[in-house]
Amino acid sequence: MEIWSHCNRPPAYDEKMTTAIPPVAELSAQSVMDLERDYLLQNYARYPLVIARGKGCHVYDLEGKRYLDFITGIGVNALGHAHPRIVKVIRHQAATLIHSSNLYYHPYQGQLAERLARLSDLQRAFFANSGTEAVEGALKMARAHGHAIHPEKYEIISLENSFHGRTFGALSITGQPKYRTDFEPLLPGARFVPINDVAALEAAVTERTAAIFLEMIQGEGGIYPLSHEFVARARELADRHNALLVADETQCGVGRPGTYFAYQRSEPVILPDVMVAAKPVACGIPLGFIMANEKAAAAFKPGMHGSTFGGGALACRVSLEFLDILDELLPAIQRVGGYFRVKLAELARKHSFVKEVRGFGLMLGMELEIPGKQIVLDAIHEGLLINCTHDTVLRFLPPYIATEKEVDQAAKILGKVLAKAG
Ligand SMILES: Cc1ncc(COP(=O)(O)O)c(C=O)c1O
Repeated sequence: MEIWSHCNRPPAYDEKMTTAIPPVAELSAQSVMDLERDYLLQNYARYPLVIARGKGCHVYDLEGKRYLDFITGIGVNALGHAHPRIVKVIRHQAATLIHSSNLYYHPYQGQLAERLARLSDLQRAFFANSGTEAVEGALKMARAHGHAIHPEKYEIISLENSFHGRTFGALSITGQPKYRTDFEPLLPGARFVPINDVAALEAAVTERTAAIFLEMIQGEGGIYPLSHEFVARARELADRHNALLVADETQCGVGRPGTYFAYQRSEPVILPDVMVAAKPVACGIPLGFIMANEKAAAAFKPGMHGSTFGGGALACRVSLEFLDILDELLPAIQRVGGYFRVKLAELARKHSFVKEVRGFGLMLGMELEIPGKQIVLDAIHEGLLINCTHDTVLRFLPPYIATEKEVDQAAKILGKVLAKAG
């Protein structure tokens, strides 16, 4: 596709790097890890792997060892690494306009909003930089919606075991004490309901409820899909009490379940009032968004919310390209995801410590009766990147460009490391 048809061509991209930093080829993994230990906040427990570059479904460490990437930067690198169309668009756009702030217009925010409105059936967009920032915005929208009805209408219902991000609002509705306890007191008015427990949901939603926040497939919590019955009841209760139904699709959305958004999997589709997403939407350039129907969007008046970086030209242009490519990939996500699920089920039958395989499309989890950390380390050693969430759930978020061939390779390595664990 000719991307410069209606504007001036950018200057030719200069391949020469000018910054005086040591060439990657001269670095040792130990020196990279030591430097981080000395200068970074020690809040991450990283795996001992330095990734130097990526191509397609693979990444390479400093020594050039190749790894099949089935975690994709926790669901971000949906088109794998160095996808030629994404690289081309980034180069052109970076040489044209990266950022202009939300003081002015640029050509791509409106186009991206229109595209997302068409795909989601939700009319209005706000652009942020991450999942948690999008969740914060949706929380403010819910509070403003409730406040306009009654000052006491500020409660947010979310689910036990959920994950919505690390900022104070998002943390306040994250249903996992291990993330919350150190930072309490958090926002008042958050109430948690067990997943798929319709009776508990009915008891929790009242006139004081401003919004119900749901991940249609819990990600960080261990790949748990919500039942159709539960989501349908949440929709009814939100309508009855004039609360907003908010879908957090940061991890489970934007193609990963084999549909554009996870709420579109159910028949008939249960439309939320608000949806937030992030991770894959700009293939690694930070971008998150809120989509809202007119009723929810009306809660925000001029000046009530904003973001300096949100919706920059580079991120939006890349996202438009990503969505073009996603249109073509959706059938493959369903097909390859189904194939991967069958492979995982075969492995589950062979190993008695595998409890269950869950998920949809290319968002799959394998729950074990034993801790998964050593299995993840062994998989890295064998050249496969996956991770473990909730201590015992192996999580697979492969790139959307993966084929049956990559799934076979992953299944072979998994078979080997599971046999060792057994
Ligand atoms: C469902 C969900 N919501 C929100 C977030 C936070 O997103 P981010 O890390 O981009 O801030 C995540 C991150 O994993 C997530 O899975």
